[in-house]
Amino acid sequence: MSLEEKLNRLEKMRSEAKLGGGQKRIDAQHKKGKLTARERIELLVDPNSFEEFDMFVTHRTTGFGLEEQRILGDGVVTGCGRVHGRIVYVFSQDFTVFGGSLSEAHAEKICKIMDMAMKVGAPVIGLNDSGGARIQEGVVSLGGYADIFLRNTLASGVVPQISVILGPCAGGAVYSPAITDFTLMTKGTSYMFVTGPNVVKTVTHEVVTSEELGGAVVHASKSGVAHFACENEADAIATLKRLLEYIPQNNLEDPPMAECTDPLDREDDQLNHIVPENPNQPYEMKDVISAVVDKGSFLEVHEDFAQNIIVGFAHLGGRSIGIIANQPAVLAGVLDINSSIKGARFIRFCDAFNIPILTFEDVPGFLPGVDQEHGGIIKNGAKLLYAYCEATVPKVTVITRKAYGGAYDVMNSKHVRGDMNYAWPTAEIAVMGPKGAVEIIFKKNIAEASDSETETQRLTDDYREKFANPFIAASRGYVDDVIEPKTTRPRLIRAFEMLQTKKDANPPKKHGNIPL
Ligand code: HXC
Repeated sequence: MSLEEKLNRLEKMRSEAKLGGGQKRIDAQHKKGKLTARERIELLVDPNSFEEFDMFVTHRTTGFGLEEQRILGDGVVTGCGRVHGRIVYVFSQDFTVFGGSLSEAHAEKICKIMDMAMKVGAPVIGLNDSGGARIQEGVVSLGGYADIFLRNTLASGVVPQISVILGPCAGGAVYSPAITDFTLMTKGTSYMFVTGPNVVKTVTHEVVTSEELGGAVVHASKSGVAHFACENEADAIATLKRLLEYIPQNNLEDPPMAECTDPLDREDDQLNHIVPENPNQPYEMKDVISAVVDKGSFLEVHEDFAQNIIVGFAHLGGRSIGIIANQPAVLAGVLDINSSIKGARFIRFCDAFNIPILTFEDVPGFLPGVDQEHGGIIKNGAKLLYAYCEATVPKVTVITRKAYGGAYDVMNSKHVRGDMNYAWPTAEIAVMGPKGAVEIIFKKNIAEASDSETETQRLTDDYREKFANPFIAASRGYVDDVIEPKTTRPRLIRAFEMLQTKKDANPPKKHGNIPL
């Protein structure tokens, strides 16, 4: 065979591989409003930056007629590309080939790029669109999944791992995205569940659609499995690219600095008036966040899940930070099971990847109730406490209003290694809210008073005056300074600059035992 013939053969095989399961199946994919595996990669990476691996890999299975159907690439496109110039490793499942189902060879391709990403120290991005284990391969396919799960676990906290679900993701296959750091889903075209609607109907007699059982909206709002519910595939890829802007390549690097055009000394008068005089009146904590961080830089994570706590990334003076904030506009900002889990997981991601943490605090306490107690608010609230305690990245707190009870301790207090703790003059730092407090400590006086309601009010006002302020905490050094709200941005920029070279460590151990 001449060189020319050899080159022609190569070209022919490349074209064949690029067609995946064939034009008919590509058209069917498009008809569903979905892109192909390669189109998705093109949307993700910088032009001409993709280096594909294993284009000629095929499965090795015989039986069920599979020996007649060996498709180059075996249902997954893998490789390495650049996003905004930074290296990422990518796998993109091809639904046009055996429904993107995972064979031994398909799994080996994914494992290969995961191993490379670990050696190089670069993020792994999984674009998932798969019918699950390749049924004809049986246990060999299950082994392939387990090989991936193990790598997901070993890579956790070493390189960022992000899963984008763009089609089916069912059965045990869901556990790979579940171990990764962030899961993005598309509305209407993706779903995740351990068992689908048919099995659910047989076992529990519940009748649900795939979308109702495991669609993007459900997972982003109810289960918390998805961090982002995106409008479509382009939106999902754009969100993923934005997320990468705040994240370092690996656990040994710092996040990239962003260009900052927002003045570092910008003060904002509206912050002086944002906390209402009536302590029971809510306000929008997201207004505080957007007034403080670099203009337009806040990227909220888990926007629709456990909305009584806000988590997300932002830039502050160009520096990437993770924000955890109580939300007084939802359930008065109380901490419950879901908000504790949401906050804890986000803090652990930030700490693992050297992203400083900023906490805005306005929390009346933990949510009382039988549901919460029986659901394990004790062990779940402890997750948030544990996450704050173990985090060694720079940690700064601003108490805007309430910091009551155990929640005061939990929300990055000085006692759990908060580095800089600020309070606004509107802060109320005490063991519990004034009314609850006087009803306990003055129970007898109130019972004996001729007008118990007036007496309660008098005692409550007195307690508020004495204790519901930041100055007792400040006199102890539990807050480092009481600051005028409008100066919050410049003060925080200075604090994080000061903490840039912070070094802190936990005692050597195999790993801690976070209360799961
Ligand atoms: C082999 C599969 C496949 C699979 C789909 N296909 N799933 N081939 N193994 N798991 C093939 C189909 O035969 C079909 O081939 C093509 O992919 C497209 O599938 P359709 O059914 O035509 O597509 P659609 O109607 O869109 O339905 C998609 C689907 C459905 C919902 C994913 O195919 C399905 O239910 N598949 C089985 C899902 C499943 O039970 N997987 C195992 C889960 S357990 P042709 O040649 O006709 O195009 C699991 C264990 C993991 O994954 C364990 C880890 C611990």
